[in-house]
Amino acid sequence: MLHVLYASETGNGEELVERVAPPAARAAGIGVRVREIDAVSLEELAQMRWALFVVSTTGQGDVPYDVGELWDALIAADAPELDQLRFGVLALGDRVYADFCQAGIEFDDRLAELGAQRLVELVTCDYDYETPASRWLREGIDAVARDMAGAAGGADAGEPTGADPGPSDPGSAPAGPQDVEPEPLRIPDPAARTDGTAIVEDVRVLTDRDPDREILHCTLALPPALAAAGPDGDGPPWRVGDSLDLLEPNDPRLVAAVLDRLRIDPDQVVEDGTTSISAARLLTERLELRQLPRSLVEAIQERTGDDALGRLLAARATDFERWRWGRDLLSVLEDVPQLEADAEDLARWLRPLQTRAYSIASSPRVDAGRVDLTVRTLRYERAGRILEGTASGALSRLARSAGEEPDGNPSREVLVRHRPAPGFRLPDDSSADLVMIGPGVGVAPFRGYLQERSARGDTGRSWLLCGIRERTTDLLYARELEAWRDEGVLTRLDVAESRAADGAEYVQHTMDRLGPELFAWIDGGAHLHVCGDAREMAPAVRLALRAVASRELGSPERGAAWVARLQAEHRYREDVY
Ligand SMILES: Cc1cc2nc3c(=O)[nH]c(=O)nc-3n(C[C@H](O)[C@H](O)[C@H](O)COP(=O)(O)OP(=O)(O)OC[C@H]3O[C@@H](n4cnc5c(N)ncnc54)[C@H](O)[C@@H]3O)c2cc1C
Ligand SMILES: Cc1cc2nc3c(=O)[nH]c(=O)nc-3n(C[C@H](O)[C@H](O)[C@H](O)COP(=O)(O)O)c2cc1C
Repeated sequence: MLHVLYASETGNGEELVERVAPPAARAAGIGVRVREIDAVSLEELAQMRWALFVVSTTGQGDVPYDVGELWDALIAADAPELDQLRFGVLALGDRVYADFCQAGIEFDDRLAELGAQRLVELVTCDYDYETPASRWLREGIDAVARDMAGAAGGADAGEPTGADPGPSDPGSAPAGPQDVEPEPLRIPDPAARTDGTAIVEDVRVLTDRDPDREILHCTLALPPALAAAGPDGDGPPWRVGDSLDLLEPNDPRLVAAVLDRLRIDPDQVVEDGTTSISAARLLTERLELRQLPRSLVEAIQERTGDDALGRLLAARATDFERWRWGRDLLSVLEDVPQLEADAEDLARWLRPLQTRAYSIASSPRVDAGRVDLTVRTLRYERAGRILEGTASGALSRLARSAGEEPDGNPSREVLVRHRPAPGFRLPDDSSADLVMIGPGVGVAPFRGYLQERSARGDTGRSWLLCGIRERTTDLLYARELEAWRDEGVLTRLDVAESRAADGAEYVQHTMDRLGPELFAWIDGGAHLHVCGDAREMAPAVRLALRAVASRELGSPERGAAWVARLQAEHRYREDVY
């Protein structure tokens, strides 16, 4: 039996494995069992003979949240030998992040350290993982089938027999860790990865006092594929806690400036054999002009021989990340005035236009065909130019233009994709207590949770801890939250004010201040869900929780064990970005 195990945070790995593995195993004539890695104990892993792993990286180079327990056991000094196991790891990641595919790479290394034998070499996949990942999985399953046949003289050798598995077919293992090469010229079609077109029915500014800290509330009517009930009539495919990815076109001002800088005719037609498109549309709808890959800089450096870019590429990864932060394509072009490039070069060098994820801030029980989103507008100044985030900037411009329409109705289309968050769901148990920590736009999914809890008539207590600058002006959804508190849907609401007259407070400080009550809730069985900033907030919340538990239990060791138990029971969930 082959085990195909996935560690997936946002569902890409899970979807891949479930789609590809069963038919591929059938075609190869072997039995397969597909599961989350989380469902497998270390003891069971120590019994397995063939396993393929699809491991995504989340957070900052982290293994997906649910794998924590197995991972901790695997990296422990007393982890068992796995020398009966023949395995392969496919690592999913994104080069936007500094620790590219870190979790998969570490997983692969550790299995080998424990004596497991690589039957299929590690492959790392970037955001455009679908084709190479499907190929890896199909080839991996074929390699296992050949190995099983060699080991047992049959099609499926079953679980361990203690016999030497025998040599693998040398032709079955790809040679060495490999990144997947991009094709020479391919005009990407990011729309093909979406679930359809939503209509932005409403977009308005929630906090209009400070344009630098603008937050928008948007309502989108979902495409039929997401709004319709499933075949068993149990509601639409999305649930509270999930996110919606938006595919917004690039800022037209940025597109015009890039075309102008490179002296590309906007109407010039670019072709790749199957698609032909104008340069203006290529840049507007197909290519990512803000989240720039390192390979772009390498290509520009190669073309221009630019010394500064050469030094940058030779520098540490963190220096490169610092340089890249805040730069869009135009900023890079401004750094290399000697560069000449045409539209085809851009199609080769740039990524497909990326979707942006937004936590769904409403419940399908309230309206299965519509979602609300809470979006912080990204707007900043760089080298005398005001830059806007692709998606948040587009929504902000829409909010402003809608304000100028007589009916105030934006009614614009946007391509969307459902991003399930299996690790960030409201507990099914309606009597479960819940502590929600969501500073800033991190409050968004919790608005969905509270709508759901209200509609379900949950009896469990709910405690929301938000973080804002000033209560009088910044508390998002203040009236709704207060109404829920009056109704008893929200048992407790605490607000950390970072610009309070009597001293700045962030959520971690509030946790500390309210430590005994927080501890009592969680120790009594409450689930703790955290949403928002991954860089500063989430680590600070983890530390604060550990500090509270250590204080309440009398020692750091007991505090750490208590937090570990909370994680092991899946009562500590994060959706941070
Ligand atoms: C699962 C998930 C859920 C999310 N939920 C929400 C949500 O509910 N609400 C929400 O608002 N966001 C949410 N986000 C973040 C969101 O997806 C986008 O990343 C964010 O809105 C920025 O997208 P953009 O297109 O506006 O900016 P982009 O065009 O993607 O620009 C981002 C780039 O701008 C630069 N940059 C960013 N900040 C600064 C800065 N302060 N100064 C200078 N340069 C900067 C960096 O180079 C960065 O890579 C979520 C993300 C994930 C992964
Ligand atoms: C919040 C968040 C953090 C991420 N952190 C990393 C990272 O540190 N390194 C990396 O290579 N990829 C990172 N990624 C990219 C994911 O690994 C990539 O999107 C992958 O396809 C997700 O697969 P999954 O849906 O199976 O979790 C991150 C993605 C998200 C949403």
